[in-house]
Amino acid sequence: MLAGSRDEVGISMIVSTSSDTTGDQAIEHVLILMAMRDEATPVIEALNLAPLADALDPRLPMRCYRGSLGRLTITLGLAGVDERYDVDNVGSEAAAVLALETIRSYAPDLVISAGTAGGFASRGANIATVYLSQSRFVFHDRHVPLDGFRESAIGGYPALDVSAMAQALAFPTGVISTGSSLEKSDRDLEVLGDNAAVAKEMEAAGIAWVAMLYGVPMLAVKSITNIVDQNNQSETEFVRNFAYASASLTRGLCSVLRYLDGRRIGDLAAVAESAD
Ligand code: ADE
Repeated sequence: MLAGSRDEVGISMIVSTSSDTTGDQAIEHVLILMAMRDEATPVIEALNLAPLADALDPRLPMRCYRGSLGRLTITLGLAGVDERYDVDNVGSEAAAVLALETIRSYAPDLVISAGTAGGFASRGANIATVYLSQSRFVFHDRHVPLDGFRESAIGGYPALDVSAMAQALAFPTGVISTGSSLEKSDRDLEVLGDNAAVAKEMEAAGIAWVAMLYGVPMLAVKSITNIVDQNNQSETEFVRNFAYASASLTRGLCSVLRYLDGRRIGDLAAVAESAD
C-alpha cells in the first residue's frame, strides 16, 4: 500500500506503509544505488536513464535518474559530490542517507547496491570479476569488543537469496563487506577473513541496514578493481583498473536487470529440493 505525504520543504514523497517482502512480490521497480559518477555514467548511458528533476530534498547532494527496461521501472540514485573537494561522496554515511531518502520516496520492490570493490585471489577473484551478494552484509572496520555491541557493529544485515539467478547467469556469490577505507589494515583483513568475504567495499552494509529497517529486499553487484590479498597498494590498482572493472560492472548489472524483468522476488532463490 502506498501513501502520499509531504515534508516541510514541500518535497512529495511516497511512503510504503507495508513491507511485503514475501517471495510473491512482483519485481516492478528496481532502485540501483551507486557512489561514484564514473561507475554510474556507463550504467546511465547503457540504460538510457534521464535525470529525475526535483527528486529529493534539495539540501542533499544526491541525484536520481529514471528509465525502464522491459517491464521494469529503474531508478538510479547517486550519492553526489562533496563540493568542497570536487570528489564523489563515497562511504556508508552518504550511502545510508541516499538509501533512506530514495526508499522513502520511491518505495522500490528491490534495492541493488552496485559498484566496485577489492577482491581476494584466494577466493578466485580476478580484476573485473563480478560478484553477487549472498547471505549477509557486514562491516569489517567496526571493532567494538563488548557483548552485543560487537555483533551489532558488524551488522550481518540480510542479503536476498539470489542463488538461482547467480547460477543461471554464472556469477560467483559471497559475503560483501563494508568499511570506511580503501587502504587495508591487518585487523580489517582478519574480520574480512572471519566472514569469508569476497568483496571489500565502502557502501553496501550502510544501504543494507536501511533496507532491512524498511523491509525492502536487497542485493549487491560488485566488480573487482584490485586484489586485496596480494602485496600491493589497493589505491594504485584501483585507479589503474577502474575503467575496465566499471565496464564489467555495467555488463553484469544489465544482465541482472534483464533477468529480473517479469520475475518475482522468490524466483531469484534456488528451489529447495524435496526430501523424497
Ligand atoms: N573499492 C574498490 N576497491 C576497494 C577496496 N580495496 N577497499 C574498499 N573499497 C574499494
